[in-house]
Amino acid sequence: MYHLQGKVAIVTGSGRHKGIGEAIVLRLAAEGCRVVVSDLGKPQGEEFSEEHIGTTAEMEEIAEAAQKLGAQAITVACDVRSETQVESLIARTIEAFGAVDILVNNAGVGYLMEPFTEFKESSWDAVLDVNLKGAFLCSKHAARQMIRQGTGGVIINIASQAAKSGFPYAAAYTASKHGLVGLTRSNAVELGKYRIRVNAVCPNHITTGLGHWQNQFFSEKFGLDYETYLQGIRDRNPLGRTGMVEDIANAVAFLASDQASYITGEAMNVSGGEEYH
Ligand SMILES: NC(=O)c1ccc[n+]([C@@H]2O[C@H](COP(=O)([O-])OP(=O)(O)OC[C@H]3O[C@@H](n4cnc5c(N)ncnc54)[C@H](O)[C@@H]3O)[C@@H](O)[C@H]2O)c1
Repeated sequence: MYHLQGKVAIVTGSGRHKGIGEAIVLRLAAEGCRVVVSDLGKPQGEEFSEEHIGTTAEMEEIAEAAQKLGAQAITVACDVRSETQVESLIARTIEAFGAVDILVNNAGVGYLMEPFTEFKESSWDAVLDVNLKGAFLCSKHAARQMIRQGTGGVIINIASQAAKSGFPYAAAYTASKHGLVGLTRSNAVELGKYRIRVNAVCPNHITTGLGHWQNQFFSEKFGLDYETYLQGIRDRNPLGRTGMVEDIANAVAFLASDQASYITGEAMNVSGGEEYH
């Protein structure tokens, strides 16, 4: 256990069942944090359809699951692309819990994949706006609050293996996640004097709702059946399996804790040894 009792944690994009955000919320709740489950709640146009997003009902179910673990939990709908909504997310958190100690930038779009020479400007903008600008806005306003509090803080960015290596059909995703590591490093050096630590976690494949979509997409592109494609991922992994959402939640709980008090500016792979630079 990491002694996070009473800490206030916001996890963006955490309102989708089977997602990494849900696992992070539940793990931080089990560690004693007061948690803010935040997600879109409602579809936002064609690119953010119900198939891909965390709904209000799911957000509430995840908050209830956190409460069953003994944690205080609230839900706040927030589109991380909007600075006004991000400011409201922080304000609502302060109203409910009086502080922001931990921010996990988990919201991400990984389903807008197209051949590079056909890549739509609107897809590029949607991916960069959520994965990179969203993390920038949430970090900016959380850091302001942490500086006001004067007690330090922790920001954790959920990047990806695609922050370290290139992936086909995924120019925007790969660029956004590489950019997120850049944001992590810049924030770490600038915010260290306030005792705000900023790190990234880089998962490889996990079969969440998004991961399932990616398995379907890539198996079709590579002319493989779904299970053969998935087995290929396991076979090239030194530990012989794909990731689990709990693997990422474990890393986040560690990085959020004082056990990681001398770690900042890192982009930590959680990939079973598949990615190691
Ligand atoms: N699953 C994987 O294999 C994998 C691997 C590496 C990195 N990741 C990253 O982990 C994070 C979580 O992914 P996941 O696999 O759990 O997928 P997921 O689809 O379950 O979670 C992504 C969440 O982001 C939310 N979101 C999207 N646009 C948003 C917006 N504008 N504002 C607020 N929330 C928004 C969605 O509603 C969804 O709940 C993402 O950043 C993803 O890029 C996932």
